[in-house]
Amino acid sequence: MGASFLITDSGIAAPALALLEGRQARLTFAGPHTTPTELLALCKRERFEAVISRTIRFWAEDIAASPALRVISKHGVGVDNIDVDAATKRGIPVMNAMGGNAQSVAEHAILLMLALTRKLIALDRSMRTGGWARPGHIAGELKGKKLGIVGLGNVGRALAAIAQGFGMPVAAYDPYVATALVPMGVRLVKDLDVLLADSDIVSLHCPLTGETRGMIGAGQFARLKPTALFVNTARGPVMDEAALLAALKGGRIAGAGLDVFTDEPTPKDNPLRDLPNVVSTPHIAGSTREAMDRVAVRAVENACAILDGTPYDPACLVNREALGRRREAAR
Ligand SMILES: NC(=O)c1ccc[n+]([C@@H]2O[C@H](COP(=O)([O-])OP(=O)(O)OC[C@H]3O[C@@H](n4cnc5c(N)ncnc54)[C@H](O)[C@@H]3O)[C@@H](O)[C@H]2O)c1
Repeated sequence: MGASFLITDSGIAAPALALLEGRQARLTFAGPHTTPTELLALCKRERFEAVISRTIRFWAEDIAASPALRVISKHGVGVDNIDVDAATKRGIPVMNAMGGNAQSVAEHAILLMLALTRKLIALDRSMRTGGWARPGHIAGELKGKKLGIVGLGNVGRALAAIAQGFGMPVAAYDPYVATALVPMGVRLVKDLDVLLADSDIVSLHCPLTGETRGMIGAGQFARLKPTALFVNTARGPVMDEAALLAALKGGRIAGAGLDVFTDEPTPKDNPLRDLPNVVSTPHIAGSTREAMDRVAVRAVENACAILDGTPYDPACLVNREALGRRREAAR
């Protein structure tokens, strides 16, 4: 009998399922509507050894209720739905499926930029209602527009490559990126305020951490050009939603493309939903068939590597300190 896996979603891509079936893993699925109480009860009953975590919160109480747990492997990138500190204290490695959805998210950021600059949504709406909004319609090109990327990781670098193909000058702010990873032609800017003031389009690609929560607020929106577009496919709480709303309504910035929100699903009456200068999507930037397959396989491989004690990409390990705790506990 294989190890017991919790998969916090209603399904997982076929290639990853095949891997799990190949090792006769016992699988329990907890869909997106599983309540915290139901999740806790499942953890107590099933004694999971591995968790493949997608969107629902896997918090300290769930970790405490899982005495056999040996790894938490994120189905995606961004572990803000996992209590990493609680896992670290127990010596449980938390793994990210690094890079698995980077191309999809980068393409989605470009999609939002194009939809905004070409006024796609208004044109499409007009076509559907019998309109022909051609007279007086003037849009803009991406070519020549300065792109400012906040967070030059896997997504940021994939975006830089696409944007350069469009002929956009690219600059980035990332206090932690290794110089060797900065792509050719991308200007690394040390001061976020300088990047914001200099860019025609700003796109967020940093993780949600204690440091980045609320990093883009009223002061930062005030630094943007009035013609600037703001794109967030990272995490909602990195930006201050009320400040963004005020900046958009007050004409402080020209538009926003949003895939992520402070609370998700964002309330039906969130005014950002129907501002004319906003294009939004429901946190699906990484949800392509290709990314889903890659991410699912990487998440399962990462979990299995920890369970089996075999090599893994160290860039995927979020909490290196957990390994020290494990060694201490084994002594
Ligand atoms: N919308 C979606 O569907 C979706 C899908 C995947 C990832 N994401 C989000 O995008 C984020 C980035 O993904 P990734 O794969 O590029 O991750 P990554 O870890 O490869 O890159 C994150 C980069 O952000 C940088 N960073 C950290 N703190 C920063 C700060 N204070 N200021 C500026 N940069 C900072 C890091 O140094 C790193 O280079 C994820 O953490 C996740 O929250 C969203």
